[in-house]
Amino acid sequence: MSELQLDILKKLGEAGTIESTLETFPGVDSQAVYSALNSLKANGKVEYKNHDSIYYTLTQEANEIVSKGSHELRLLHIVNQLGKLQIKDVAAHLGPNGKVGQARAFKNGWIVKNNDNELEVNGKVGDVSTVKDETKQLLESIAKNDLSGIDAKTINDLKKRKLITPRKETSFNVVKGPEFSLELTKMETDITSDMVVNGSYKNLNFKPYNFNSQGVEPQSGALHPLNKVKEEFRQIFFSMGFSEMPSNQYVETGFWNFDTLFVPQQHPARDLQDTFYLKDPIKSDLPQDKEYLQNIKEVHEQGKYGSIGYRYNWKAEESQKLVLRTHTTAISAAMLHKLAEDPKPARLFSIDRVFRNEAVDATHLAEFHQIEGVLADYNITLGDLIQFMEEFFAKMGVTRLRFKPTYNPYTEPSMEIYSWHEGLAKWVEIGNSGMFRPEMLESMGLPKDLRVLGWGLSLERPTMIKYGVKNIRELLGHKISLDFIASNPAARLDEDLYD
Ligand SMILES: *[C@@H]1O[C@H](CO)[C@@H](O)[C@H](O)[C@H]1NC(C)=O
Ligand SMILES: *[C@@H]1O[C@H](CO)[C@@H](O)[C@H](O)[C@H]1NC(C)=O
Repeated sequence: MSELQLDILKKLGEAGTIESTLETFPGVDSQAVYSALNSLKANGKVEYKNHDSIYYTLTQEANEIVSKGSHELRLLHIVNQLGKLQIKDVAAHLGPNGKVGQARAFKNGWIVKNNDNELEVNGKVGDVSTVKDETKQLLESIAKNDLSGIDAKTINDLKKRKLITPRKETSFNVVKGPEFSLELTKMETDITSDMVVNGSYKNLNFKPYNFNSQGVEPQSGALHPLNKVKEEFRQIFFSMGFSEMPSNQYVETGFWNFDTLFVPQQHPARDLQDTFYLKDPIKSDLPQDKEYLQNIKEVHEQGKYGSIGYRYNWKAEESQKLVLRTHTTAISAAMLHKLAEDPKPARLFSIDRVFRNEAVDATHLAEFHQIEGVLADYNITLGDLIQFMEEFFAKMGVTRLRFKPTYNPYTEPSMEIYSWHEGLAKWVEIGNSGMFRPEMLESMGLPKDLRVLGWGLSLERPTMIKYGVKNIRELLGHKISLDFIASNPAARLDEDLYD
């Protein structure tokens, strides 16, 4: 128990009540009084009420007036002593306070100006030594905290003249509580099994629960902003009837990453400069489906399903090389291959990490996340793709879309998707899309009229926009602030995402 708590109990014991802690304990910080009272109250020792009062402190100038007299009275005495005083000489006697003193002495009718522009004592004043110094008296009362008979206007004038400054003080009115005593018995906070076993709990005082205190915020993990935005996208996909593909593998064979997608083996995307190849192990087995392998070989070499192919010698060894997947479309291809066992409409998506051997800068890393959707249905067309994209992006508040023809190795036709950016007042690219090629789908054994559309976008870009991150290295990697991760709110994608 603190000294202050003991003092409070002692005073209460002597006087029965404390009218004002401010008067009883002058100079003690009211916050300290408050916390002392609070813990006494929790123990039932006291009850209290608080009331705020305004007090005034004298400024340096006011303290000077209290010790030397007001400027106006000092001027009156000086003029009285000298008989007369040139106005220009007032400052020599009173310094910077001369102007105020002169104005107030005039106002009080203490001094007048004669024809030579000199100050003289007003004849009406009579005996100068009996003139009362009201300003000084006023300040003395205020210094003693005696505001009786001082009206608000006077207080305001003094504030304006910068003679007093207000300060708020909380004072407490304290009475004895039901458990009042001069000393504090320590109260138990926890009941232990021992107390129950030996029965000592019956005679102990337990501290009441404080239902007003704030709980301690528990330490917990936090979702990374990328995961927060990813979760929003997942919910959008789920709301449109999509199921999530098992994309939890970073390593693929060249076969799934490139060949099934009708990417020729000499395509620049397969160069070391663009793709990370594994050193150990260097290669893996090709799929068991011999017919599928044969179809891929043929469609690359001389074409099939109405295609003329690329006309080169397709090599199984190239297909076996292990790579860090460059897109999640490798997963989509495997899922579509599985769909060919029992062909039917399907809606699939994945949001996961992909790897490209790229120069790292403020907006590019060598790894990023791809959001990918795949929709298979009978006889769907490019028109369905456009309509579907409009529905999908509308879920994120993105409503003005434009489509631009482009080239992708495994979709034909292919379209880049643009949205109107209000802030930049221009069209910005937000995704890529297309209809998967028959070279890819029919090789898998999917029926000709079961068509598949696909689209993709990056997860990083909407996340950076949502969380105002300018440099991707502040979002991912060893330089990010953990506080940034822990304190960011969940993302909602219901407003225009790309604004
Ligand atoms: C009962 O157990 C508590 C906790 O161990 C101990 O502090 C207390 O002295 C015990 N009381 C009796 C009466 O044995
Ligand atoms: C797709 O269109 C073709 C040609 O119009 C038609 O023969 C076929 O039955 C259609 N498929 C389905 C599943 O509707």
